[in-house]
Amino acid sequence: MSSDGINTGRRRFLIGATSAVGAAGAVGIAVPFVGSWNPSARAKAAGAPVKADVGKLEPGQMVVIAWRGQPVYVVNRTEEMLASLPKLNDELKDPESEISIQPDYISGLERALRPELLVVVGLCTHLGCAPKFRPEVGAADLGGDAWLGGFFCPCHGSKFDLSGRVYSGVPASTNLVVPPYSFEGENVLVIGVDTEVA
Ligand code: FES
Repeated sequence: MSSDGINTGRRRFLIGATSAVGAAGAVGIAVPFVGSWNPSARAKAAGAPVKADVGKLEPGQMVVIAWRGQPVYVVNRTEEMLASLPKLNDELKDPESEISIQPDYISGLERALRPELLVVVGLCTHLGCAPKFRPEVGAADLGGDAWLGGFFCPCHGSKFDLSGRVYSGVPASTNLVVPPYSFEGENVLVIGVDTEVA
């Protein structure tokens, strides 16, 4: 397992995103090369953990927290929302998150340390658009009665349930990514720091 707690075997598709960096350095000698070896305080802060008080999040409500330049969706799921999860397994590509990216200490249909609190990176696993939170059960534009709430990506129509699990028959192939996270006390969510596993 890597230092940030994510199973390296599950992150293969992320590799290769930096392939264009090398070419620029070969062209202009005026570019101060040393700068790239001394990351600024701002750059360091960009990779730092983020803390957020989630104690006042209403049942059914979502907030978005910025972490490493990415939106992280945090949803306080209700009992009804959690009860919908097992009903959807047959309609999903990876209901048990066997091929999707999440820390090793995350498991089950809830995909969360605390069942009620979903924490996922808000970037579609197809091409990276931001899915919309669509908790309304029975939304007519998302399949009517079959829709039990979740996330909808407007770019190419991928759908995810309230655990960020991807539906079959849509362009995205894996579930929304669960980042490393932990809690300080009752209410403070820390994104970017793994929970300690006994
Ligand atoms: S980016 Fe979400 S469906 Fe294509």
